[in-house]
Amino acid sequence: MKKPDLERVLFTEEQVNQRIAEIAAAISERFAGRPLKLIGVLKGSVFFLTALARQLSIPVKIDFLSISSFGGVKHPGIVRIAKDLDEPIDGEDILLVEDIVDSGLTTRYLLQMLAGRGPNSLGIVTLLDRTSKRLVQVPIDYRGFEIPDAFVIGCGLDHKQLYRNLGYIAVLKPDKP
Ligand code: IMP
Repeated sequence: MKKPDLERVLFTEEQVNQRIAEIAAAISERFAGRPLKLIGVLKGSVFFLTALARQLSIPVKIDFLSISSFGGVKHPGIVRIAKDLDEPIDGEDILLVEDIVDSGLTTRYLLQMLAGRGPNSLGIVTLLDRTSKRLVQVPIDYRGFEIPDAFVIGCGLDHKQLYRNLGYIAVLKPDKP
């Protein structure tokens, strides 16, 4: 793979895996004896969801949805469901798995949509959290790392669809985005 134009590595693969193991342990304890479903948002959360699911000690179901933004800069957070879930979620314990919560607009939209489908419980687990850019508050149950105000890649996060498969989180050189 082409060597990415990195400014610096924020979290190494070892740190990421260690943190995911900690989160997985907490989730496994909380949902012990309760069937859990992880819902991933394509494509960014795929890598985190997979790593997390493999560390869980409880059985889980998984499902995915895909969204596309069409609100533009003037109306950020207006999203369209490009691919809906395969199965209903009514009565189920759900964790929405995010790669990053930035402004919070996308997550809030998804949360409201999923809440309307009558799950038994609905939580959020995100690998990264950039609170400095938050526009709307969203109740995050589990988060991997707080990150600074810089564009990051790796562990599912892309720049022009590249670098999702990096095992670490890195800051891209500022002239790249
Ligand atoms: P929000 O609605 O502003 O919270 O947007 C969240 C989405 O923006 C994420 O799911 C990512 O797809 C994308 N995003 C935000 N920050 C970054 C970043 O630093 N690198 C790559 N994608 C990002």
